[in-house]
Amino acid sequence: MLLEVRDLHVEFHTRDGVARAVNGVSYGVDAGETLAVLGESGSGKSVTAQTVMGILDTPPGRITGGEVLFEGRDLLKLKEEQRRKVRGAEMAMIFQDALSSLNPVLTVGDQLGEMFTVHRGMSRKDARARAVELMDRVRIPGARERVKQYPHQFSGGMRQRIMIAMAMALEPKLIIADEPTTALDVTVQAQVMELLAELQRELRMGLILITHDLGVVADVADRIAVMYAGRIVETAPVHDIYQAPAHPYTRGLLESIPRLDHKGRELYAIKGLPPNLTRIPSGCPFHPRCPMARDVCRTDVPPLYEVSPRRGSACHFFRECLDA
Ligand SMILES: Nc1ncnc2c1ncn2[C@@H]1O[C@H](COP(=O)(O)OP(=O)(O)OP(=O)(O)O)[C@@H](O)[C@H]1O
Ligand code: SF4
Ligand SMILES: [Mg+2]
Repeated sequence: MLLEVRDLHVEFHTRDGVARAVNGVSYGVDAGETLAVLGESGSGKSVTAQTVMGILDTPPGRITGGEVLFEGRDLLKLKEEQRRKVRGAEMAMIFQDALSSLNPVLTVGDQLGEMFTVHRGMSRKDARARAVELMDRVRIPGARERVKQYPHQFSGGMRQRIMIAMAMALEPKLIIADEPTTALDVTVQAQVMELLAELQRELRMGLILITHDLGVVADVADRIAVMYAGRIVETAPVHDIYQAPAHPYTRGLLESIPRLDHKGRELYAIKGLPPNLTRIPSGCPFHPRCPMARDVCRTDVPPLYEVSPRRGSACHFFRECLDA
């Protein structure tokens, strides 16, 4: 495994009490594999990703347990200086909002070039040539001229391509993309996602793709991890999940996708709201919203049951869910 997160716990101390944002998350990604991470807002997708990247702000965050094994070594045990060497060179992150992630007062060429001058000790001239190459690679037309422009001179989609170029610059083994297309128009979303998937395949990188968009997931991901209240509630190969979800929450998410052939029919939406993380419900945290909940769900926390060798579900009644 390229990356293996084991039993990760992260909390935040807030005025309301301790918010348990990540409660024992385990997931893994192989080289050349795409893992999609799904779940409603506040389920802990970004906090988990930030912990893996080593960019979680502590405080207010606190990592209270677990391991982040990258090629077998636990990144949580590294000193910040060693950590910094891993970031950029070995793993990189793409964020939703390129405008706030790029430096507004530096040209795109200088920012891309910096990856090579700082990390690879290249001359400015060579670094500039590499910047143009990268811009070509992410298909920004007129790269030779546009390399001299500032981030605000690019459209949202082009800026997102620049973010992808930055992330790929040093050919990292792992990329984490946190809602990389959410801020874009629908048509541009598809183009950017296609580019990311194509580069990932070419470079055989591991990719963790955090997204709300189940449509995208079906096309690009190999595996899915579904998060709820800071836990993984289902993990499986994409194909299996679309055929038959093994958790009622996954079923709810799938049934919320608008489908052309269901036009006119009311969209199923999961009723209720995600829990307050300072007061996570007892037993199965999903029980107040679950259409299949029974007494045992209110008292017993479901472990991640093995559904099949590559598939897990944190539901006491996963068999019934599969048959439903
Ligand atoms: N800086 C912070 N201070 C306090 N609590 C935080 C902070 N960052 C995150 N949290 C807590 O962690 C929870 C999970 O946040 P996270 O950003 O991981 O959610 P997410 O799954 O990425 O949601 P979204 O889909 O909205 O991006 C939040 O609901 C919040 O309770
Ligand atoms: S354990 Fe119970 S409440 Fe939780 S998802 Fe399964 S059926 Fe629903
Ligand atoms: Mg997030």
